[in-house]
Amino acid sequence: MKKILLSGVKPTGIAHIGNYFGAMKQFVDLQDFQDGTSDGYQCYFMIADYHGLNLIQNGEEMRRLTLDLALDYLAIGIDPSRSILFKQSDVSAHTELTWIFDTLVTIPYLARAHAFKAAVEKLTDATVAQRHLSSKLEQLTDINVGTFNYPVLMAADILLYDTDVVPVGQDQKQHVEYARDIALKFNHTFCRDSISTFKLPEPLIIKDVAVVPGIDGRKMSKSYGNTIPLFATRGEIEDAVMSIVTDSNVTGAGGIPPNIYNIHKLFKNEADLTPLYDAHKGQYKALKEALIEDIDAFLKPMRERRAQLKINTDKVLEILKNGAERAGKQADAKLLEVKKIIGVTP
Ligand code: ADP
Ligand code: TRP
Repeated sequence: MKKILLSGVKPTGIAHIGNYFGAMKQFVDLQDFQDGTSDGYQCYFMIADYHGLNLIQNGEEMRRLTLDLALDYLAIGIDPSRSILFKQSDVSAHTELTWIFDTLVTIPYLARAHAFKAAVEKLTDATVAQRHLSSKLEQLTDINVGTFNYPVLMAADILLYDTDVVPVGQDQKQHVEYARDIALKFNHTFCRDSISTFKLPEPLIIKDVAVVPGIDGRKMSKSYGNTIPLFATRGEIEDAVMSIVTDSNVTGAGGIPPNIYNIHKLFKNEADLTPLYDAHKGQYKALKEALIEDIDAFLKPMRERRAQLKINTDKVLEILKNGAERAGKQADAKLLEVKKIIGVTP
């Protein structure tokens, strides 16, 4: 029996190497994973467009970013003949189950989510003071309900497929814990005789690359503008690498600049890097040039595959349609089971 693996990415911008090493690369590795003791994974890879809608509120842009992400998934090596690649909005069971879960979770519980807390923290500065907002509720004026409810939709994504493992970056760990809590709450509320409707999923986080640093040393993130795009051209790689911050504040021990080294070790093993960094102590330009070569060599085949796929986008849309049919079958069956248990279906 294969274990079930599910993960998703929002179509909210250009994929970067943080997304790749933190999450997407594992998708490909896990798709191919086999060992003597198990049959590997049946994988579901999702384009989380409804999660992305919290941010992308322009139809054209959503369409473009969704296609971009589908191309990214295929270019890194997701194989649609083995894995199910689909768009969240194509399987309506996700939003329907979200409502059912909404009736089980409380407001303070959701208010503890990191992403929601971060959104609230952003508000409690000058903007709030300027508006003379009095009540705590009014202060939340710029935060939409979708941001608040985000973990519930994500729990539905995961639980609909009896998922065993969810490969994600460190920042998503809490969301997988929400999915577990919600599964437990549902099972506790509705299931009798120790028969559980929902399986408890496990997050899968690879330690070494749990947080990929950006060109300024902070976590690489679209929102910090410190990324190296995953499908960067040679010129874009050069621009990004040359901008890696190496001022005297960030010079590491032994003349090894941490902001260069920590990105470099994603592309080359440390045994190979040691002689290079020993030979070029403090020579940032030479080290950056070596890094450019290594990134380019690594990204080039994926970049070329993506360009090839882009020639026939109809084929990509067909893959998504097919994925939605396969995912939909599974999700609809699970939702029916849930609807019977809660008593809305005979
Ligand atoms: P961003 O922070 O750029 O907006 P997303 O939130 O869209 O990225 O993340 C998509 C996936 O990539 C998630 O699973 C997330 O954990 C992972 N991820 C994003 N940035 C990093 C990073 N710097 N290091 C490791 N994983 C990351
Ligand atoms: N919240 C995830 C992110 O921001 C994307 C996502 C949506 C997801 N649904 C999911 C990840 C289900 C794993 C499983 O990256």
